[in-house]
Amino acid sequence: MINIAVLVSGSGSNLQALIDANLSGKIVGVVSNRPNAYALERAKQANIQTCVIEHKDFSSREAFDNAMQQQLRAWNVDLVILAGFMRILTADFVVKWEGRMLNIHPSLLPSYKGMHTHQRVLNTGDVWHGCSVHFVTAQLDAGQTIAQGVLQVNRNDTVESLAARVHQLEHLVYPQVVEWFCNQQLIYQSNGKISHKNKPLTRPIQFCQM
Ligand code: GRF
Repeated sequence: MINIAVLVSGSGSNLQALIDANLSGKIVGVVSNRPNAYALERAKQANIQTCVIEHKDFSSREAFDNAMQQQLRAWNVDLVILAGFMRILTADFVVKWEGRMLNIHPSLLPSYKGMHTHQRVLNTGDVWHGCSVHFVTAQLDAGQTIAQGVLQVNRNDTVESLAARVHQLEHLVYPQVVEWFCNQQLIYQSNGKISHKNKPLTRPIQFCQM
């Protein structure tokens, strides 16, 4: 069975979706860099071990990442899931988890890497928006996208309504991708290519919100 660690900084609604999905992998621990993240409560309620590693206690990003690496090793983790984890990870750390670390980002990557994606979509007047699940690489929000949740932006959408609608999609898409990884329907090959259900993954799998 795949041992999963989820890294969080905030509310943890994606963590909750993963807990509720009854994955074939096991969430063995949740790490937060913020002691008051509500995600920690969710983990405790689900009897999942938690660990707080506060970035401000470390003098460098390397030292912080090393502390995380130690915890992940102690839990014997196979797959790292970033779920609203608001720290940029060092290239050294990311390389250690190549092909074994996933992130979810609230935009249709490669559009709108970084922050404030809903506002930027509204400013541009885009018709389509959504979320993307991708393997993590050292470059921010740049690893290959596995799946996307897509929605149509309505004329009366606001940052808040888009955030809520994108979250709904995230809760659908992320558990599905993680489950594919756990039951080996999603495979990151040694050459960096990805296969899904025994076929090369040439473009993201899309889920649409009606
Ligand atoms: C999500 O919108 C995710 O795309 C982004 O951070 C947010 C986390 O939300 N990376 P939650 O803490 O899972 O509710």
